[in-house]
Amino acid sequence: MKRLLFAAFFLAPCLPARAQQPVEQRITALLQQMTLEEKVGQLNQYSGRELTGPASTRKTDQLNAIRSGQVGSMLNVRGAANTRAIQAEALKSRLHIPLLFSLDVVHGYKTVFPIPLAEAASWDLAAIRLSAHVAAKEAAAAGIHWTFAPMVDVGRDPRWGRVMEGAGEDTYLGAQIARARVLGFQGEKLGGTDAIMACAKHFAAYGAALAGRDYNAVDMSLQQLWEVYLPPFRAAADAGVATFMNSFNTLNGVPATGNTYLQRDILKGQWQYPGFVVSDWGSIGEMVPWGYAANKADAAQKALAAGSDMDMESDAYHTHLAQLVKDGKADMSLLDDAVRRILRKKFELGLFDDPYRFSNEKREKQVLNDPQNRQAARQVARQSMVLLKNDRQALPLHRAWSRLAVIGPLAKSKRDLDGSWVPDADTTLITSIYDGLAQRLGSKTQLSYAKGCDVLGDSRAGFAAAVETAQKADAVVLTVGETWDMTGEAKSRTDIRLPGVQEELFLALKATGKPIIVVMLGGRPLIFNTIADQADAILLAWWPGAEGGHALADVLSGDYNPAGKLPSSFPRAVGQLPIAYNQQYNTGRPVTRPGDTRYKSAYIDAPNTPRYAFGYGLSYTTFQYSELKISRPQLTAAETVQVQFTLTNTGPVAGEEVAQLYLRDPVASLVRPLKELKDFQKVLLKPGESKTLTFTVGKDKLSFYNQQLAWVAEPGEFQLLVGSASDDIRLSGKVELLP
Ligand code: GLC
Repeated sequence: MKRLLFAAFFLAPCLPARAQQPVEQRITALLQQMTLEEKVGQLNQYSGRELTGPASTRKTDQLNAIRSGQVGSMLNVRGAANTRAIQAEALKSRLHIPLLFSLDVVHGYKTVFPIPLAEAASWDLAAIRLSAHVAAKEAAAAGIHWTFAPMVDVGRDPRWGRVMEGAGEDTYLGAQIARARVLGFQGEKLGGTDAIMACAKHFAAYGAALAGRDYNAVDMSLQQLWEVYLPPFRAAADAGVATFMNSFNTLNGVPATGNTYLQRDILKGQWQYPGFVVSDWGSIGEMVPWGYAANKADAAQKALAAGSDMDMESDAYHTHLAQLVKDGKADMSLLDDAVRRILRKKFELGLFDDPYRFSNEKREKQVLNDPQNRQAARQVARQSMVLLKNDRQALPLHRAWSRLAVIGPLAKSKRDLDGSWVPDADTTLITSIYDGLAQRLGSKTQLSYAKGCDVLGDSRAGFAAAVETAQKADAVVLTVGETWDMTGEAKSRTDIRLPGVQEELFLALKATGKPIIVVMLGGRPLIFNTIADQADAILLAWWPGAEGGHALADVLSGDYNPAGKLPSSFPRAVGQLPIAYNQQYNTGRPVTRPGDTRYKSAYIDAPNTPRYAFGYGLSYTTFQYSELKISRPQLTAAETVQVQFTLTNTGPVAGEEVAQLYLRDPVASLVRPLKELKDFQKVLLKPGESKTLTFTVGKDKLSFYNQQLAWVAEPGEFQLLVGSASDDIRLSGKVELLP
């Protein structure tokens, strides 16, 4: 180690002179040497699954393209040895420009963490940042420079399977989490070999796909775009996210990939964004089937003009861009700008000084086997779980229960715990729920098991054995939900009820009269009204990752007091959608309107309210909110108001509470939602302990985008709502903004 320090200390000033030059000068010098074809090459990204697989013609073509400087980045090539080998091929090119290696490191590289929506349920920005940091350390050790994460799309429609990759339905929470994830992946500054470039995706409004159907069109007002969907992207940009990825959807008739308004007017114009934009997989070429481009050449021309810098896997730039420039149909200055943006990141990563600095097999072995990574995954998994119901204090598991029946199609599953979007779901690293309980409860508790049924299908053949197993036990832990491949990309569902006959299995077990604790696994809000009505306890574990079995045992046993809060509303029926809490308006005929019971904005077959609300989650203890003090009754735009209150743990055990601040603007130039999250604090309190908490509210938290798309705070009264959930407001007050 001493020799290394010596080298680092004494050799640094001796780096080649060019390495001391400012990056922009080095880029300019390189650009001046590059041919048109070499410039186009930097904009070309291929997937290299084949490069590390068996020989194929595509592999040969890719290697030839890499050696001749026709490729700027490869995705899906990983491992220190593989990336070193492919990088060596790239350095054979005339100007020796190194490749960027990228991969979807969404919730872990080797150590799989809970899915992003689960992590969002922790409302713990430090935990979320830690998860991204561990993923970055592992991926960087495996030769990866760049992850296609965080996905920062606001996801308000649980029919859309990609809600699992995001931070839920709320803009404010989503923006805070976007920042935490970018900083987790990138650190404060790129350049270390324990950090990788992040990618804010999918720009923009992909989560609002019509009918919740993936890859579909998006139509919305620009006011909604700016107010709801853009802020998490802005937060990522402000946090220094290295890249953006555009999206498969159209926005008001124009594909995002070819959308000048999004990529040039907003991102590179108003926001002055210095990074680069990569298309989504093939999305440049997909402007042809969208009916926005006549052919791939037309698509290439439109994409470059609109601000798509790098072409992932459509081959449109590689095939057509040079000719388009020669024919005067594509602007060389736009091409140069795209190349500059890409080269800038390669310099910032230090790849021109040492192209192999991320491809170190010794470091790879050491980092990927660091036990601290698994401890972090277990901690984040615990923090992600949400206690939805706990009647008669069924949880934590009673010491008196010496015989526990662990039942259900997912009780012994390993693969499902990792969820989708994992580079490797290495089941040898995954602890199932059954195994986690067995290891924690040990000899004191006799565990029995029955599968009961499959997740899908209508076979009830396993019910009898499951019922018999339950009858011989003191209590039942029933694990149900979705399989890992039922939610994620291209996994839209019209029916988000619990699949198969799982609720029937629940009823069969319920008939035994035993206490039933339901563990719910899945990647999206699901509908399970029978279980919600009749279970003794329900713990939402999402897809908790490789440490899920241990984390679940920590929670069920009471070693860890759950504190998760829902980042998305859980509907009673899919017909209620959209049901996001901040898409609820008072209307002119509010359901609370006194008198007339018919002519109200309500359903005749269901309540307006969700089954479980945004921000909801129970604890093994209870919390009291009291002593609200609002520091002033009025404020000017230049002042702030302090919203202070006392939070007390009034229950038997220590616990964390996420206190939430909502705001309502009852009269404005545009009708405002009934409530909007504006701040939150997560605090740990011992039994009987009280803490005084304060939220600070200024002009910005009172503002919204008006009809002219100006960010304004309009004078008048604002309601300030403090609570434990969006539907559990404990304290309320008001403040007036003066003109
Ligand atoms: C996929 C996804 C995108 C991902 C990319 C590369 O289609 O839309 O999120 O990063 O392709 O795998």
